[in-house]
Amino acid sequence: MDEITLRRPDDYHVHFRDGDIMQAVLPETARHFGRAIVMPNLVPPVVTGQDAAGYRARIMAALPPEMSFEPLMTLYLTEDTDPNDLAAAHAAGIVTAAKLYPAGATTNSASGVRDFENIIPVLEKMAEIGMPMCVHGEVTDPQIDIFDREATFIDRVLEPVRKRVPDLKVIMEHITTTEAVAYVASAGANLAATITTHHLMINRNALFKGGIRPHYFCLPIAKRESHRRALVKAATSGDKRFFLGTDSAPHVDAAKETGCGCAGVFSATNTMSCVAQVFDDAGALDQLEAFTSLNGPRYYGLEPHEETITLRKEAPRFPQHIASKDGPITLFDPEVDLQWRVV
Ligand code: DOR
Ligand code: ZN
Repeated sequence: MDEITLRRPDDYHVHFRDGDIMQAVLPETARHFGRAIVMPNLVPPVVTGQDAAGYRARIMAALPPEMSFEPLMTLYLTEDTDPNDLAAAHAAGIVTAAKLYPAGATTNSASGVRDFENIIPVLEKMAEIGMPMCVHGEVTDPQIDIFDREATFIDRVLEPVRKRVPDLKVIMEHITTTEAVAYVASAGANLAATITTHHLMINRNALFKGGIRPHYFCLPIAKRESHRRALVKAATSGDKRFFLGTDSAPHVDAAKETGCGCAGVFSATNTMSCVAQVFDDAGALDQLEAFTSLNGPRYYGLEPHEETITLRKEAPRFPQHIASKDGPITLFDPEVDLQWRVV
């Protein structure tokens, strides 16, 4: 098989930022992906329906006119989120989902949630109206080792919250562990997970290969090889609860190559080549379309795209950096020879 045609893919977790960086990265996503769940962790965050409508308008204004792309907007949950504002924004079609960041878990999460009890009324409202919650699943307790924060989150937060609000549709974002794979696989119809490009391709050794490698630093941090393998197995299994969310998270190089570098891997440009490679190496190209183009829309209650894209077994070429007015943004380097190119 040296050519494969798929329904047009979606990215169920992406960071576009705003302003000049958004201008630079948006076409990288819109070139291949038909839709994307757009993360709300701007400064200040996208908290209200009005914020989301404004952000959506800025994205559409930045989109090159020849490109077709639909941003699926999210609200950033805070302990002050107004359930009525959220429900109105959902009913008006302005927002698709809401994102739960534990306060302090990651980039721009300071306005996130400290006491999960305080958002139960909002979560009940979301369950009632069928609005899904995307979760950054890591505890912030500094006593918990950074490599254990996802597994601990499942026990301490996610399972109790899901028991309290069983009808809430949840997406555990960017899962990185065998524990998360097992938890999602064992749950019912109201839990799914996204898996990123980079977590399918690197393990934690990549962070320290020959020196400290800031462009592989992201949150949740990459785990050991056994976890990466569990992610590949889940992604290629055909299980409808696992789908692509790249977590493509641009930071200019100056913000990553420094004494306290930002978390985030930018992979929008080469994700389809990377993911095709992972599936080819696993002998699972027949499952690629489900992962990139079918399972996500199904979970979100959307129709898959009518359009298709074709990948051909030919070495692709990618730049090392994407230029932005704020400086270069390094593209994810999977450090393997990619063999698939979108034609
Ligand atoms: O690596 C990450 N970068 N993880 C996140 O959760 C946030 C993201 C960002 O916004 O840069
Ligand atoms: Zn993210």
